[in-house]
Amino acid sequence: MNLTLKIYRQDGPNAKGRMETYQVADISEHMSFLEMLDVLNEQLVAKGEEPVAFDHDCREGICGMCSLYINGEAHGPDRGVTTCQLHMRKFKDGDTIYIEPWRSKAFPVVKDLVVDRSSFDRIMAAGGFVSVNTSGNTQDANAIPIPKTDADKAFDAATCIGCGACVATCKNASAMLFVSAKVSQLALLPQGKVERTHRVLNMVERMDKEGFGNCTNTGACEVECPKGISLENIARMNREYLKASLTADKD
Ligand code: SF4
Ligand code: FES
Repeated sequence: MNLTLKIYRQDGPNAKGRMETYQVADISEHMSFLEMLDVLNEQLVAKGEEPVAFDHDCREGICGMCSLYINGEAHGPDRGVTTCQLHMRKFKDGDTIYIEPWRSKAFPVVKDLVVDRSSFDRIMAAGGFVSVNTSGNTQDANAIPIPKTDADKAFDAATCIGCGACVATCKNASAMLFVSAKVSQLALLPQGKVERTHRVLNMVERMDKEGFGNCTNTGACEVECPKGISLENIARMNREYLKASLTADKD
């Protein structure tokens, strides 16, 4: 495949951004999207030009690092995959592909396609943890029976990889799907009950402070989430938040 790439370039956090046009030739349909960008970068390096900066780590849909807005969709045109799992067979010879970084005030651009997602880390630090001892002297897992439905819902919520596609997709740049997945994962299990009240209050407060927008139930986040995190988690977080707001001073 021969392709035209229109790529967002920004030299640094305070530099002005611009779209640049590049051509790549002989791209195999079996390549991943990131491998296609590797080909482009090899071309640029060979010509003595600055390669395009983009985030990646595992390249197998686990770490949540890859974060590209491709032809107006977070993680591109496929469903249930991250950018690193997207294959070039989803495109046609002669296509023009627009590649941009996540757009959100809370995800400032560091360089080119790389954004700073440390706001997610700060939300996690505000409450996304359990303080019960989980090493050394833990009980046998079977000593605490957990209803299968709760275990399944907690597991589904735990598949969130923190990629930020939900934020990039949302017209309000809301982080509610991400935060609700993290709150749900812990609220559904006995280990998470200890800090349950303060967790949801602190994580939501941090989310607001970081500059994420609010949820207006559009549902685009659920559609574009590579892990299929359900909007049900947002409803659960809202219930957790309301309950916590009414009982926090009694804890
Ligand atoms: S909820 Fe989905 S889109 Fe949002 S950070 Fe988690 S995995 Fe990514
Ligand atoms: S590089 Fe790890 S999820 Fe894409």
